[in-house]
Amino acid sequence: MKLLAIQGSLRTGSSNRKLLKVILDHLPDGVTGEIAELHDIPLFNGDVHAKGFPESVDELRDKIRAVDFVVISVPEYNYSVSGVLKNALDWASLAPQQPFKGKPVGIVGTSSGMFGSVRAQGHVRQVLQYVEAITMPKPEVIVPQGQLKFDEAGKLTDEKTQQAVENFVASLVLWVERFKI
Ligand code: FNR
Repeated sequence: MKLLAIQGSLRTGSSNRKLLKVILDHLPDGVTGEIAELHDIPLFNGDVHAKGFPESVDELRDKIRAVDFVVISVPEYNYSVSGVLKNALDWASLAPQQPFKGKPVGIVGTSSGMFGSVRAQGHVRQVLQYVEAITMPKPEVIVPQGQLKFDEAGKLTDEKTQQAVENFVASLVLWVERFKI
């Protein structure tokens, strides 16, 4: 099975990217994954869209279509989704062949505050409802104070978070297998 991990922050030292890398490191045999970065996705503009999808958007949409499941890592800005991530989801949400329709998606996230992006994750879940993705309800991965939870090499230093990530990956893979008939 193939996984695409969508990274919702552009920052070099992003805790959400570190979180995704830990998730990729824990994929079981037979499951491969890659991170989709959003640096090249332009701001949505209906005039641009009227002429077709920009290459970077086409590429993202193709990648989503090509995988069995997606994980989205959600930074929280002002109690909601980062503009970078929402913008990419908006581009991806358009016809034809809307790539999220029927796609199994796991949602994770970390922020520097005490609530670990839980509010933003709820907003992403709502967006994914509109695009008819199938979101795994639980277990959730909510990592408060992400800046304190990884070492220089990006390794998780917090035992509880490590267990939560391992439980998430194992549960997600089992859950996605249910969609493979
Ligand atoms: C934040 N941050 C933040 N954190 C949080 O827990 N709740 C919030 O509502 C906000 N709001 C917010 C707004 C803006 C404009 C910025 C720039 C930042 C802090 C944020 O969680 C922190 O920068 C994370 O580290 C961002 O994720 P990455 O880049 O580390 O993945």
